[in-house]
Amino acid sequence: MAVKVFLDEADMPKQWYNLGPDLPTPMQPPLGPDGNPVSPDMLTPVFPMNLIEQEVSQDSWIDIPEEVRALLYRWRPAPLHRAYGLEKALNTPARIYFKNESVSPAGSHKPNTAIPQAWYNKQFGIERLTTETGAGQWGSALSFASALVGLECKVYMVRISFDQKPFRKVMMETWGGTCIPSPSDTTEVGRKILAEMPDTPGSLGIAISEAVEAAVTDPTGKTRYALGSVLNHVMLHQTIIGLETKKQLAKINEKKVDVVIGCAGGGSNFAGLAFPFVKDKIEGADIDIIPVEPASCPTLTKAPFAYDFGDTAHMTPLMPMHSLGHKFIPPPIHAGGLRYHGMAPLVSAATRDGLLNPRAIGQIECYKAAVQFARAEGIIVAPETSHAVAATIQEAIKAREEGREKVIVFGLSGHGLMDLLGYEKYFAGELEDHYMSDDEVRESVKSMEGLPKP
Ligand SMILES: Cc1ncc(COP(=O)(O)O)c(C=O)c1O
Repeated sequence: MAVKVFLDEADMPKQWYNLGPDLPTPMQPPLGPDGNPVSPDMLTPVFPMNLIEQEVSQDSWIDIPEEVRALLYRWRPAPLHRAYGLEKALNTPARIYFKNESVSPAGSHKPNTAIPQAWYNKQFGIERLTTETGAGQWGSALSFASALVGLECKVYMVRISFDQKPFRKVMMETWGGTCIPSPSDTTEVGRKILAEMPDTPGSLGIAISEAVEAAVTDPTGKTRYALGSVLNHVMLHQTIIGLETKKQLAKINEKKVDVVIGCAGGGSNFAGLAFPFVKDKIEGADIDIIPVEPASCPTLTKAPFAYDFGDTAHMTPLMPMHSLGHKFIPPPIHAGGLRYHGMAPLVSAATRDGLLNPRAIGQIECYKAAVQFARAEGIIVAPETSHAVAATIQEAIKAREEGREKVIVFGLSGHGLMDLLGYEKYFAGELEDHYMSDDEVRESVKSMEGLPKP
């Protein structure tokens, strides 16, 4: 009756899993502005070649360098918990497990890729990283990783989150990073957007444009950009979550998983937990795999699979993904990390191939679930994570109604101790639900008109 399942450091996976080559339909390449596929060389001003090689790799398994493993040991392997308290509160026959990524120093799954990205950049002779952050989790994680490997780190933080979450900036500064609210007057793109929309709350798309510009315009050539989600190599690094989880379930003799759940913003924590199970599904296993997104940003559940830019100012290649259009400015719900207009091409492709069952949930139901979880299990989850908790509760109730002993595994992607403002507003009854209507989606996707189709 273990409450927590641990792995020895020696049992931490030695390779990451790459879903791309195993997908039934081959992945389509990113495209340049002329509509032709982007070659790896064209990405070199933005990323170091060792990470570009991972981005385009067709190998199913990629070794985790020994030095990267040594850095990950600071908190990994992460525990797998049995949610006995929640099971009891819901009176469900389901066995609920959660993989606890909140135990990392930055409080979320983001350091799983921040560490290797910083390490590969350092190996390549890079001295400085730029990035964007929504809720501040990724900016904190990259600042932490940069401190460990010895890089400078500059973070563009979406304006609304910068104002709502002042302590995230202090965390970044504690690890030696710099944090700038976006849009800012430090870039060409930022100045243009500020002139057009001085009061904009900002968006991840805008912050990405600023961070990419800051990297590619550094005259020393020693700055590169790092992205905390969406890209193939980020999904790859996060698979350590699901690979550990499978070992932990095997250790307690849990043979069959019925449901796997993760919240999805750009897709990385979901992919990290789910892709090793998607592999089983491709090989015939019967598993329901559910990415959960906010009803106010319904990328997988309502937006088309299209070619779109990853950012507002067209600095990135066109990527084949579910997208609400690169000009989408999301309503300011509190799950800052789930407000991206697109979705990882690998998660989008797996959805298109029928391997995933995406679901959208409104924020009030998510906070209600998070509070129930906190009172049953103790952990106050991040607003992003609350979407996974809400779907888990839905599934556990369904199992009760069906009288089935299902095994449900969800990803606890981060704690919410830096995000209590959302909880405060929930308790004060000040939160509103926003369900993006079909008309709003139609309007939003207009920014993709005229772009190539996958
Ligand atoms: C705790 C947490 N979970 C989930 C996400 C969503 O990102 P992704 O979909 O890449 O996991 C974020 C993003 O900031 C986050 O901070």
